[in-house]
Amino acid sequence: MALVNIEKLIKRYPVGNGQFTALDDINLSFDKGEFCGLIGPSGSGKTTLLNIIGSLDTPSEGSATVIGSRIEDLSEKEAAKLRCEHMGFIFQTYNLLPVYTVYENVEFPLLLMKMTNEERKKKTLDALEWVGLTDKINSKPTQLSGGEGQRVSIARAMVKEPQLVLADEPTANLDAENSRNILDTMVRLNKELNTTFIFATHDEKVIRYLRRKILLVDGEVVKDENVNQTEEKK
Ligand SMILES: Nc1ncnc2c1ncn2[C@@H]1O[C@H](COP(=O)(O)OP(=O)(O)OP(=O)(O)O)[C@@H](O)[C@H]1O
Ligand SMILES: [Mg+2]
Repeated sequence: MALVNIEKLIKRYPVGNGQFTALDDINLSFDKGEFCGLIGPSGSGKTTLLNIIGSLDTPSEGSATVIGSRIEDLSEKEAAKLRCEHMGFIFQTYNLLPVYTVYENVEFPLLLMKMTNEERKKKTLDALEWVGLTDKINSKPTQLSGGEGQRVSIARAMVKEPQLVLADEPTANLDAENSRNILDTMVRLNKELNTTFIFATHDEKVIRYLRRKILLVDGEVVKDENVNQTEEKK
């Protein structure tokens, strides 16, 4: 069974007296272990679709089934449980908790899970190592650069080793070298843990890494292509 299955999905937003159709008849499915992205111009519906897959929003019509749950049927509480148990989010604006340290921000999602203090510490430190921030664990978010903050949010999204990671412009604040490091880390987790990654991006640095590219234009899928995996990354 597909990890994510989207059928005849339409998303409309009320604007003025009328409605704006942000997504128009989307049919897509994503298998476990994919490393793929929604690409397309600004306003094409990438974030809207990613938010519905992430159960942060609901379709106006049609259906989105994610890890066995129909998003349109979930209560807020059920949606929160689905996100907490199975998903990691990386947003363009990373919302770190300002009064907590880097370590505490990354540890945070684990506090709701049953595990020993030892296990929690190991997972937190592992995630910080994945993003190269071991030397900043005691810093507060305000003491970090934009790219470092972004890397903390990536560690926080991945610390639970979720089945599905949704990443909206995850490299927006990163320079080329950090982007490459982060993407290499994601590729590694994708291979080692079979974590599924779905990106929304127009960053060429990210697009080069994708094994499947779904092009959205004006809320419609106009292209859905698999990339030859042996293709050399430049
Ligand atoms: N809450 C809302 N109310 C009305 N219109 C909205 C709302 N959210 C998004 N839209 C519209 O839906 C369309 C798709 O927006 P979306 O944020 O999904 O685009 P995007 O592809 O992620 O763009 P970008 O690359 O700029 O992030 C846009 O035209 C946007 O103005
Ligand atoms: Mg967007």
